[in-house]
Amino acid sequence: MGKDWWKASAEGIPHLVTETPGPKSRAMHERTTKYMHGLSGQVKLFPVCFEEGYGITLTDVDGNKYLDFSSGIYVTSLGHCHPKISDAIAYWAKKLMNAHDFTTPVKEKLMEKMADVLPGKLNAIQLYSDGTAAVEAGLRAARAITGKHEFISCFRDFHGKTMGAVSCAQMVRGDVLSYGPTRAPGFYMVPRPNPYRPTFAKPDGTIDTDRYIDYYEEFIREGTVGNVAAFVLEPVQGWGGSIFPPDDFFPKLRAFCDKHGILLMDDEVLAGMGRTGEWLTMSHWDVVPDIVTFGKSFGNGFPVTAMVVSEENASALDKISASSSYGGNPMACAAALASIEVIEEEDLLENSTRVGNYFMKRMNEMKDAHPIIGDVKGKGMLLGIELVKDKATKEPFEEAGKLVYQKAFSKGLAWIPAGHILRMSPPIIMDEHYAEMGLQMIDEAISEVEKEFGY
Ligand SMILES: Cc1ncc(COP(=O)(O)O)c(C=O)c1O
Repeated sequence: MGKDWWKASAEGIPHLVTETPGPKSRAMHERTTKYMHGLSGQVKLFPVCFEEGYGITLTDVDGNKYLDFSSGIYVTSLGHCHPKISDAIAYWAKKLMNAHDFTTPVKEKLMEKMADVLPGKLNAIQLYSDGTAAVEAGLRAARAITGKHEFISCFRDFHGKTMGAVSCAQMVRGDVLSYGPTRAPGFYMVPRPNPYRPTFAKPDGTIDTDRYIDYYEEFIREGTVGNVAAFVLEPVQGWGGSIFPPDDFFPKLRAFCDKHGILLMDDEVLAGMGRTGEWLTMSHWDVVPDIVTFGKSFGNGFPVTAMVVSEENASALDKISASSSYGGNPMACAAALASIEVIEEEDLLENSTRVGNYFMKRMNEMKDAHPIIGDVKGKGMLLGIELVKDKATKEPFEEAGKLVYQKAFSKGLAWIPAGHILRMSPPIIMDEHYAEMGLQMIDEAISEVEKEFGY
């Protein structure tokens, strides 16, 4: 099986045989939502029902075949049902499904592989079964390592939905914790640099990273009791809209953390394991964090996540047991191990970088051509297009975001926009041909929406 395992199944996409969502999809959605409540806005805006995924394609119950720009939700980054990964899971599904936290041959191999691919001395590992649990473990690890109890996180980051994770995030978000009282004591938030919308800017309007760091200095002096265990943040804001910091931010934040004896906790659940063209997104800036979390792409669809600290802090992990019902079960280890091997065997870090560069080139051309595209952003295949009502005022264009999402989806593009930022996370196996195909659907959808709004 070569790198092109997915190509035959993608021939002829998009292939639409009914209006979309089709009649079967709508009926199934209606019957499901009689009982299931709280589905995301994406589902409500386009109630399709999928029954098959292979490589870069998704097929719905009406037989319509879509090009996938979502990877689930940043999850199946190596393509749906990669044969090597599915076979590895199936092997253990028939041999040994759970052995608590005893070691197994496949766990041993996964530990060695992770220690091999991760930078620095990031090699003390615990395994969990969702991203939120890995984040909670990271918070416990930070307390165990430092003996301190306060945390600083960033506006518009997302870390999951349990109390600790929610306490590191915006709380009014509809799907998090909308009702009081407040975040857990000792959790504080600060702004982080968004180059398109800087809170702190130089006189020429460009972002001023030093002023963010100065603000953090002042904040720990005035706003905490001087017991900050960790600075917790995403390397790139995923849910927040594919927002990357300026290149000097993480090196300066690393120095700031070192100066104050604060751990740098890097939540790579969404961005890590290849999506941005690196195993660890912070490697783009040559920064090694103290604590990292992985999820989503880590098992390419199988629920397996990890919390990793550097070797010098390994002994602290003995204070926070790795025991969990499902974490590190043999199927999970097999999925994660096979996923890392696939990235290596198919040169997918290189592919993500190369095709990501193509995306950026084309998205920049689209930005020049469209009055409502204010900004485009991305590294590797973690991408975003920001829609604004006016390029000068930068007013977010939420209504356009929803319409572009629906229109491109009905042309055959399965994807995941969030409000006025059109987010994209195509499988990183994709090539330029399919990147172009998806972008053209988006381009057309944006033109149609501009026409509707009289641009
Ligand atoms: C950065 C980040 N951390 C943590 C989580 C939580 O992961 P999970 O949904 O697997 O619990 C998410 C989920 O989207 C995420 O994007």
